[in-house]
Amino acid sequence: MSVGTAPGKVILFGEHAVVYGRPAIAVPVHDRQATAWVRPTGHRQPGPPGSGILLQAEDLDRRYPLTAAPADDALALIVRLTLEALELPLSQNLAVTVRSAIPIASGLGSGAAVSAAAVRALAAHFGAQLTPHQVSELVYQTEVLHHGTPSGIDNTVVAFEQPVYFVKGQPPEPFRISRPFHLLIGDTGIPSPTKVAVADVRRGWEANRARYDALFDAIGQTTDEARQAIEMGDIAALGPLMDRNQALLREIEVSSPELERLILAAKGAGALGAKLSGAGRGGNMIALVTQATAERVAATVRRARAKDVIITCVG
Ligand code: MEV
Repeated sequence: MSVGTAPGKVILFGEHAVVYGRPAIAVPVHDRQATAWVRPTGHRQPGPPGSGILLQAEDLDRRYPLTAAPADDALALIVRLTLEALELPLSQNLAVTVRSAIPIASGLGSGAAVSAAAVRALAAHFGAQLTPHQVSELVYQTEVLHHGTPSGIDNTVVAFEQPVYFVKGQPPEPFRISRPFHLLIGDTGIPSPTKVAVADVRRGWEANRARYDALFDAIGQTTDEARQAIEMGDIAALGPLMDRNQALLREIEVSSPELERLILAAKGAGALGAKLSGAGRGGNMIALVTQATAERVAATVRRARAKDVIITCVG
């Protein structure tokens, strides 16, 4: 049996604006992983090519042959694309199983991570080597299925598994985190389909381009300042930059009362800065904490009805 894994991700700065060509910073979250297994099933299945490939999504309790998958099934798509990239026929007898410890539709990149894990498990099964860039390109195509017009940041960070400074259409720039810092990730428990939030922002931008472009510019500026602070190890500067990014995200109407409640709770308990992460409206907020404040902030955020809290070290 061959195994592939991929981490979750959080966007530290620049979500939404990144869809419009501004920079964003994202980091992998190794504490939450998606895993895929590929095993040979050994016996020949009658039927068209692909009927010998059994797909199993454990979290969704679904098991189905590739040929019975609906047109918008991301797992079927990534298996097809990977076999094509490896120049292998669909007439295989194998089972692909996926499981994710990353909550779905929460801004932590669950869909991209599951796809990346499946690509890696298939490559390992056939003894093939794929570069992070190749994994990223394959996963991007499943992101199109989920999101419509993805910037490409989610597939990039889960495929490269390192912090990236990302501008759409350009090669990702891995960059140096000179001093590690701690993030607390608090889940509102409210699913946040990226496609819906991205489409709403587009409507806002179409109705008032000058205002939205100015907001995206300000987000891009914040992201650039944050990169400098991270590279220089000036962690104290990051908190206010997160707050500034959150204020701009509020302006483009992707925050929500539940996110604001968790942000307020985190800041009240000593977090140095806090913002939503990902598409917004629900999903997760991230707060900058220290080793000394992490537990207190976690307890307060839980009391503010966070469904899940993760404390992770970046760098
Ligand atoms: C979603 O994780 C991040 C967004 O910026 C969309 C994208 O970049 O494709 C909201």
